[in-house]
Amino acid sequence: MGRAEKVVLAYSGGVDTSVCIPYLKEEWGVKDVITLAADLGQGDELGPIQQKALKSGAAESLVVDATESFVKDYAFPAIMANALYENRYPLSTALARPLIAKLLVEAAEKYGADAVAHGCTGKGNDQVRFDVSIMALNPNLKVLAPAREWGFSREDAIAYGERFGIPAPVKKSSPYSIDRNLLGRSIEAGVLEDPASEAPEEIYVMTKAISDTPDQPEYIEIGFEQGVPISLNGNTLDPVALISQLNQIAGNHGVGRIDMVENRLVGIKSREIYEVPALLTLIHAHRDLESLTLTADVSQYKRGIEETYSHLIYKGLWYSPLKAALDAFIQQTQARVSGTVRVKFFKGNATIVGRWSDNSLYTPDLATYTSEDQFDHKAAEGFIYIWGLPTRIWSEKTRG
Ligand code: ARG
Repeated sequence: MGRAEKVVLAYSGGVDTSVCIPYLKEEWGVKDVITLAADLGQGDELGPIQQKALKSGAAESLVVDATESFVKDYAFPAIMANALYENRYPLSTALARPLIAKLLVEAAEKYGADAVAHGCTGKGNDQVRFDVSIMALNPNLKVLAPAREWGFSREDAIAYGERFGIPAPVKKSSPYSIDRNLLGRSIEAGVLEDPASEAPEEIYVMTKAISDTPDQPEYIEIGFEQGVPISLNGNTLDPVALISQLNQIAGNHGVGRIDMVENRLVGIKSREIYEVPALLTLIHAHRDLESLTLTADVSQYKRGIEETYSHLIYKGLWYSPLKAALDAFIQQTQARVSGTVRVKFFKGNATIVGRWSDNSLYTPDLATYTSEDQFDHKAAEGFIYIWGLPTRIWSEKTRG
């Protein structure tokens, strides 16, 4: 008896996931391996990947275009939550994992598989996100992770694959580990492992170096409807087109690079570089529109919710009761977050330079310093008397 009869394997076309196919069959006694490659806007051609899986011994090779759902159901909620892990990383890779897990579980149920599999190693966050999401969606499915157990170096994996007709990669493989989807790129390993040294320019694909960006600023207007970005420069766009176009514009001005040392879930600190032009711009613009349309207390309370929400995404708890409860809170807060934000792109900066909304709580008569001022200055005195009362009493009792 093998570890499972029929397995749905998350497949990228790379060496590791290809080697998983014969490995599952030969070493773990799996009868059928069904591969699933998800299109999340990473720009790979999935036709050849589909063929490669079959050549590597897959019984069936599935390709699913999930880009629209990725943006609508995963990125947009994260934007509404202004989700930034450790205040910086907008979770572009992390958000893809619960969606891929969902596709795997759906395929397993459809094809009657008793397990799903992925090619993650034991050192990263992604294994946690896959495993926990899968158990949340269907606790009866086994999760197999060959790369967590096989102990292969990259050379070992290539050699093992060659025994089963999987060709060694033709071009010299990149020294970096790169994850890519429509929202961005995550780059680590190679020379980046020294957090003291500057990342070489060659690693960047979506964002220009400042020295190559235009010498004129570019202004754009982003329209939001109930917290969701819906238009660029007045043109209503579908979610995928909006992200793609904004990636182009922001990336062209060198916006969206992040170089950080982050705390992984498995206890390791790692140095990661991100390119996330659209996602980062949208989070900043969205947060700005909230400052115009939410009351002070909701806005300030939401910051704590956002922090927790980012941790839930990072730590694999997308499908969890706490996440669902926070979604309800966030959804409720977004009812009036509609309006437009004007952003100026210039030399690596996305600066918010204007915002307006039919739901604006900004009150010119109260804010103005001119003679139009309607604010009752005298009322401040009584307010301050009561506001400061506990402090006054404390001072009187403790001064000695
Ligand atoms: N550190 C990021 C995360 O945990 C990205 C992980 C994948 N990174 C990579 N370079 N392959 O979400």
